[in-house]
Amino acid sequence: DVFRHVRTFSTADKPTVVEESTKTHPSTNVCTFSLDKRQCFDDMVEFRKKQARSSVVVQVGNPLKSAALVNQVCSRHGNVSNLFHYTHKDKELLLLEFDSELSAVNLLASCSHNNNVKVIPAASPFLWLKAMPSESSASMSARFPLIMNEDNLANDNLEELLSNAKSISEQMIILEDQTRLSEIGHRLRWITCVQIERMLSGLFPSLQVLPFGSFVNGCGRNGCDLDMAVSLDGHCGMEPLEVKSPLIFQAKAAINNPRLQTQRHIEVFADILQNFTTGCTQVQRILQARVPIVKFYHEFTGVDCDLSMGSLTGVFMSELLYLYDKIDWRFRPLVTAVRHWGAWARLTDMVPGPRITNFTLTLMVVFFLQRRSPAILPTLSEMIKLARPQVDTRQTNDVDCTFLRDPAMFQERGKLNQESLEDLFVEFLRFIESFDFNERSVSIITGTALRKFDSKPLYVQNPLERELNVGRNVNLKELTRVVMEARNALYILETQEDQGPANWGLLALPRAERVRRLNPKSSHHNHVPQIDMKDLFSTDTDDEIDDFIEAKVS
Ligand code: CTP
Ligand code: MG
Repeated sequence: DVFRHVRTFSTADKPTVVEESTKTHPSTNVCTFSLDKRQCFDDMVEFRKKQARSSVVVQVGNPLKSAALVNQVCSRHGNVSNLFHYTHKDKELLLLEFDSELSAVNLLASCSHNNNVKVIPAASPFLWLKAMPSESSASMSARFPLIMNEDNLANDNLEELLSNAKSISEQMIILEDQTRLSEIGHRLRWITCVQIERMLSGLFPSLQVLPFGSFVNGCGRNGCDLDMAVSLDGHCGMEPLEVKSPLIFQAKAAINNPRLQTQRHIEVFADILQNFTTGCTQVQRILQARVPIVKFYHEFTGVDCDLSMGSLTGVFMSELLYLYDKIDWRFRPLVTAVRHWGAWARLTDMVPGPRITNFTLTLMVVFFLQRRSPAILPTLSEMIKLARPQVDTRQTNDVDCTFLRDPAMFQERGKLNQESLEDLFVEFLRFIESFDFNERSVSIITGTALRKFDSKPLYVQNPLERELNVGRNVNLKELTRVVMEARNALYILETQEDQGPANWGLLALPRAERVRRLNPKSSHHNHVPQIDMKDLFSTDTDDEIDDFIEAKVS
């Protein structure tokens, strides 16, 4: 069975400052990939993009039969260092990584278009292996690295693993480990970024596509969306390098209205995605949002994608969260537990509306960790003060996004705080339950609860675009539910009442929710303050949805 071999990692292509480490996924014997603690965001982006530029995806009929042939064909162009298999809907796909980018370029140059049907003759890293008589005779002698299907990672025995854990802290570690975005999930998203970047760079040769959101900040779960921002000049918010040549491009004047210009660009990009880009379907243009975006679905990766232009603040926000993840290891499992609690209690929603978002919850976790004694995470102000000239300077659309981009500076300080994950989770729920949302705002800039700047029920300051409230979509009913559900969860975790070996700790939270939904009058919950069940699942109005879409892309 070619899929049984344990995957090994290429030692080539390591970023210089990084030590690559491998880790065995507990539920499978897959080696997943974890990057060094010291690695800064830009190095990670560079490393992943290079890996994606060295990779192709091939759709095959029967992966067991075709893997050897695909490996053989690709090996003519260079050494195949990694080979993955995944299925998406009824498609069987192989993801191959070469040792070098040049090998992938040469392979793509050797590919042709299907002559039998009318197709758009655009090149992409998404290929198809046509049936060939030699298929069965391909050599099986080559070594095949492990192949993993992202769907398999939605772990069936998660409940069992959680019930066998020794503490809530251990449960939180297991939950994070079992639900985090798989290695193939990472690679497919990076390949999509590189594919779009290649398509659009026909127009703008320096253009960069930068992913942001939970996918890159460390909090990505299997199935998470892919948020991308375009940097047209490729400077990515940094000072442009000194120009040596006296020759500069003849200019074409931009429309004298930056918003209109951005909308025009997004329209053109949407057309390119819709008409020429392999795999991009269901293309929607959302031009009236504060930051115009194009949404689409990628049918070879199964990922929902958003592409925006004009502002890179989302990217720098993700970089900030990425740094917090590197600063203290407890951040990620705590955010994961909080996000799961939010989903279990139906506080968050896949559909935009008046419910709190994962991003808002994440900022609340940062705020909470900044306020522990001793502090576990630094405030943004501290990081701004320590920013190194040039190295850390970033500016986008007149927004200054300069802050220290070296997590090492704060890693030791957080260790002075020895609180366990369980303590932190319980204390976070207590913080939510007791915070004065009526009067106070949440701001990770100073880590202090300042007076609110507007009359919305929830005020969570956007730390980079400071005049924006990330929580402005949340209405009073939803905020009340957040507080009540924190109280419910605290009650369940602290009393441990009626909890047998298979129904304790985190496991009691979704079950309690299930019980409550089936039987709102469940006696177990008569002890704790309840909210009106009929308010729980009311339909969101269109206005609220519009507001939210705007808030999300702000
Ligand atoms: N963002 C922002 N302001 C908002 C909403 C989003 O700056 N009001 C930025 C954040 O950097 C956020 C990113 O846009 O991480 C993507 O938003 P979204 O996809 O809603 O959140 P994620 O953090 O990616 O979480 P999820 O896993 O739910 O997608
Ligand atoms: Mg996202």
